[in-house]
Amino acid sequence: MLITFEGIDGAGKSTQIKKLVTFLTGENREVLTLREPGGTEVAEKIRQILLESRHEISPIGELLLFSASRAELIQEVIVPALAVGKTVILDRFFDSTTAYQGYGRGIDLHLLQSIISISTCGIVPDITFYLDIEPEEALKRKFSKTSIPLSFENEELDRMERSGTEFYQNVRKGYLELISLNKDRFVSINALQPETVIHHQILAFLKERFPA
Ligand SMILES: Nc1ncnc2c1ncn2[C@@H]1O[C@H](COP(=O)(O)OP(=O)(O)OP(=O)(O)O)[C@@H](O)[C@H]1O
Ligand SMILES: [Mg+2]
Repeated sequence: MLITFEGIDGAGKSTQIKKLVTFLTGENREVLTLREPGGTEVAEKIRQILLESRHEISPIGELLLFSASRAELIQEVIVPALAVGKTVILDRFFDSTTAYQGYGRGIDLHLLQSIISISTCGIVPDITFYLDIEPEEALKRKFSKTSIPLSFENEELDRMERSGTEFYQNVRKGYLELISLNKDRFVSINALQPETVIHHQILAFLKERFPA
């Protein structure tokens, strides 16, 4: 089974993935957790290029780098893991590409779709949890544990995170549109709720959709 988590930076994806992995492992399920971009030696190198803030990268270059990283991960790791019955949990997958590079950077959505199909070998998640939060709230969260001044232009943020409020608002709009187009696959959760409440909602949805 392939489970993906989506949402803007700071929505709480990593927090919820950790809780879910603990739960599933306790149920004796074999779980593999991966983050995008990354997950193979080559893909981790691509991740460094994408997130290091000193690089200027064009929108198409960014799209192709994300897609190259994904192609490596799919072929080397995800397909073999699914084939032996593992539960694969992904921290971001191709919906991030549609939301960030499509709605955020403005790349044509049809073009994106073709590149996504090529890089994923047509693999689609069984279920996608989208954690919904306003960009400003997510930013506050990310900075709540530091004394860094709150701003999207802050040098402490990675290259993607410094793209600004309007960019993140467009990304969120993109996610909301994706959900309305893929209601069977997406579960949208209010990310402002307490962590444990969200965790139990996730478990309840999994039980409802996959009773066995
Ligand atoms: N439900 C919640 N309520 C309040 N704070 C939360 C909640 N979930 C996560 N947080 C806190 O918000 C911050 C961001 O959470 P987390 O790292 O899980 O988000 P993320 O979606 O993985 O972000 P990124 O995309 O940057 O990796 C962390 O400090 C985390 O402890
Ligand atoms: Mg995270």
